[in-house]
Amino acid sequence: MKRIVILVSGRGSNAQAIVQRCAAEAWPAQVVAVVGNRPGAAAFDFAAAQGIATALVDHTGFAGREAFDAELMRVVDAFAPDLVVLAGFMRILGDAFVAHYAGRLLNIHPSLLPAFGGLHTHRRAIEAGCKLAGATVHFVTPALDHGPIVAQAAVPVRPDDTPEALAGRVLAVELVIYPLAVRWFVEGQLVLDGGVVRHRSGEAQWLLAG
Ligand code: GAR
Repeated sequence: MKRIVILVSGRGSNAQAIVQRCAAEAWPAQVVAVVGNRPGAAAFDFAAAQGIATALVDHTGFAGREAFDAELMRVVDAFAPDLVVLAGFMRILGDAFVAHYAGRLLNIHPSLLPAFGGLHTHRRAIEAGCKLAGATVHFVTPALDHGPIVAQAAVPVRPDDTPEALAGRVLAVELVIYPLAVRWFVEGQLVLDGGVVRHRSGEAQWLLAG
C-alpha cells in the first residue's frame, strides 16, 4: 500500500476527489494525512469526517520560508509518504523541500502549463484571448509551476467568460485528471524519461471537455 499525504490550503475539492476515488476504486494506496497551512481550511473537515489524520502547519507562525518548509517536512515525513500531493496548496515550496520529495511530489495547476503559471491564471487566459484553458498535473521541480507533465485537460474559453465561470469549468476537469494521475503513480504506471512523463500502457494523458 502506497502512503499518500495531501497538502491543502483551502476548499479541498481535489483532495476530496482523490480520497473518494482511492476508496471507490480500491487503489493500492491510502491517504494517510491531509496537511494544511491555514487554520479552518474546509479540507480539514472533510478529512476528519473520513477518519483521515490532519495536521496544521500555519505559515504565519514562522519567520521565513526555510523555517516553515523545515517544519512542514518534519510533519509530512512523520506520515512516511510514498507520494505527496499538492492540492490547492498555495505556498511556494523551497528547493530543499522539493529536492527532499523529488519524484514523489505532484501538483495541479489551473492552466495549460507552461502557459500562465502563478496567480490569476483564469483572468490572464481570458485577457490573452485564449480559446482553450485547462489544468495540468505535473511533478514538482524547483521552478514554480514547472516540471514534467503527467496529464492535462482542456476546456473552451467562452466569449462571455468570467474568471469565476472559467475556474468552475476548469475545476470540473481537475477533479477528473488529478485522481487519475495519482492512481497512475501509485500503480507504478508513470515513466519519467528525459523530463517527459509517459504512461506505461499508453493511456491517454489528456482530456478534452466541451
Ligand atoms: C484548484 O483550482 C487548483 O488547481 C488551484 O487551487 C484550486 C484549489 O481548489 N491550485 C493552484 O492555483 C496552485 N497554484 P481545491 O482546494 O478545491 O482543490
